[in-house]
Amino acid sequence: MQVTTSSRATPTTLARAARISRLPGFELVRYPDRDPDAPALLVGRTGLALALGDRRFRWHPGLLHTRLEAGFNHPLVRAMDLQPGDRVLDSSLGLGTDAHFLGRLCGQPVTALEAVPALALITAEGLRGAGAPVRVICAEGTAFLRALPDGAFDIVQGDPMFPPGTGITHSLEVVRAIARHVPLGSEWLAEARRVARKRVVIRDVDPGELLEAMGCPEVLRVGRGRPRYGVWRSG
Ligand SMILES: C[S@@+](CC[C@H](N)C(=O)[O-])C[C@H]1O[C@@H](n2cnc3c(N)ncnc32)[C@H](O)[C@@H]1O
Repeated sequence: MQVTTSSRATPTTLARAARISRLPGFELVRYPDRDPDAPALLVGRTGLALALGDRRFRWHPGLLHTRLEAGFNHPLVRAMDLQPGDRVLDSSLGLGTDAHFLGRLCGQPVTALEAVPALALITAEGLRGAGAPVRVICAEGTAFLRALPDGAFDIVQGDPMFPPGTGITHSLEVVRAIARHVPLGSEWLAEARRVARKRVVIRDVDPGELLEAMGCPEVLRVGRGRPRYGVWRSG
């Protein structure tokens, strides 16, 4: 991915862009030389942004506020049977709204994985600024789970990208353009079940096919057009 400064670069933003470009998968380009039709990570004086054509995306806390209002009644939390102190591994960080919410609710930092480096960077920066109790790791979920011992977390969550046209807006188009769209597979599930001491929870759309395809034994439905949650209890 291209990394560049915004048009008004400063020595600080230039140095930060250069540092990021040394990470795998990034290429440093001058702002006027960037390919506007390809995604770019912009380093600005106030932080990171994603750019694609004339669209810009800056991190924001998403629907955190409404989730915190729902608290322990939120369907994701009920599907997880989340208890204060639970150790949660979120295998799909995205913008970190879930991880931020769950960390605040269980009073314990959530570990969250993101396979796409630019998303990991921009979300980690946003969460840091918001004081969110989330430890962001740039890693692919199945590979990361494979290296963990049995029962390393109480709950493992998967929230794969929804197929387009499902009516659930998940973030902005720029984020969708760079996110990883590979479905969670059977190996992810087997590893997640080994690592989760209590439960594995996967979010799907309603109506959807993912949970049935994964042989899910228990589904928490909220209503048509809303997310639904697949639950695998341990033991
Ligand atoms: C639907 S979004 C998650 C949204 C997130 N729950 C939130 O609250 O913002 C899915 C995210 O998981 C990432 N992802 C998909 N597959 C992954 C994998 N195997 N390992 C790590 N991250 C993955 C995608 O790049 C994307 O950012």
